[in-house]
Amino acid sequence: MQSNGNTTVIALRGWHPALSRAEAKAMFPECDLERTEARRLITTNGSSDWTRSSLMSGCECVLIEGGITKWTSIEDLLQLIDYKQMDEMAVECWRHEGKLPVSTKDIEMQVGGMFHDKGSTFNLKNPKHRFGVVLDASAEYVAWGWMIGAGPGKHGWSAMRANKRPFFRPVSLEPRLARAAVNIAAGISGGYVVDPMCGTGGILIESAITGRKTLGIDFDPVMVDGTKENLQWAGVSAEVKREDATRFQLPNNIAAIVVDPPYGRNSIGDEKLLEDMLQNISRQTDECSLVVILPCEAGNDNLDESIDFEFDLPGFTIEQTFGIPVHKSLGRVLIIASISPQG
Ligand SMILES: C[S@@+](CC[C@H](N)C(=O)[O-])C[C@H]1O[C@@H](n2cnc3c(N)ncnc32)[C@H](O)[C@@H]1O
Repeated sequence: MQSNGNTTVIALRGWHPALSRAEAKAMFPECDLERTEARRLITTNGSSDWTRSSLMSGCECVLIEGGITKWTSIEDLLQLIDYKQMDEMAVECWRHEGKLPVSTKDIEMQVGGMFHDKGSTFNLKNPKHRFGVVLDASAEYVAWGWMIGAGPGKHGWSAMRANKRPFFRPVSLEPRLARAAVNIAAGISGGYVVDPMCGTGGILIESAITGRKTLGIDFDPVMVDGTKENLQWAGVSAEVKREDATRFQLPNNIAAIVVDPPYGRNSIGDEKLLEDMLQNISRQTDECSLVVILPCEAGNDNLDESIDFEFDLPGFTIEQTFGIPVHKSLGRVLIIASISPQG
């Protein structure tokens, strides 16, 4: 594959490329996104509001007005880039997945030199425009373009661990997984994101941070108070109510249900609870997307593709399932579903 000039490249983080592709699809629904051989680079010729990339869990940045090609040499790369005069710019080069035989510093200097020849000025500390070059060794690709979004390693998900919140329980979801789940489920729809079993509020926090109307339900008063404390600590607001997930009333304008219910291996009670909760939703609306996160055995964790996972969500049609590694003996699945048409 080689294209330049009019191509947009979405550079994904390495945590879970398959899930991040699903997230990108939901966040840029106007575009046809195409996979490349490089596991963390996807392309499109469509246009969208690329600033949404900064809300995503799995996106490093979007590279616009750029291109992508198999890596051959720095000389070939220099010929493919479309240089123009820009003020206060910087060039940033980084790697995905191991090494191509070239130094990122060399690329930054030589690409920078070409922009300089066009009359560009530089501000490396606080650039107004950043030109990115990403070297992806998974399939020996190089991609480039003007960067929209933070870039690699700057998001700080590790600083956003759930155990840093004032109210923490071992059930608390990892923020980057919760963020991906909310984005996949709600995309760019404007309605409420609802977590009917909100626990410590992990899903609610990510939904509210990304500017969505957010409602959380839990029947345990300790969880309701703890969630409120966590939301306040995060500086965001959401409605939180002490109610039963199998009976509460949905808001009128609902975009998505995102839920991580209590679920144990072979536990009939948990299955019944999930079924009753789903029935409560499908009784009240015939349009809403659903993401359910469940614990499962370790080993279902293909980071490059969706997985086959036999499961039934009564009243809903399962679209895709992804496996998430947790630790040696535990995994999770993230199931994307939508309400089945009635009759
Ligand atoms: C696995 S935890 C959710 C963890 C949450 N995602 C987080 O990040 O903290 C499941 C939650 O479901 C709640 N729950 C169980 N049965 C419920 C019911 N019938 N109605 C509402 N909440 C319920 C429990 O109190 C618990 O807080």
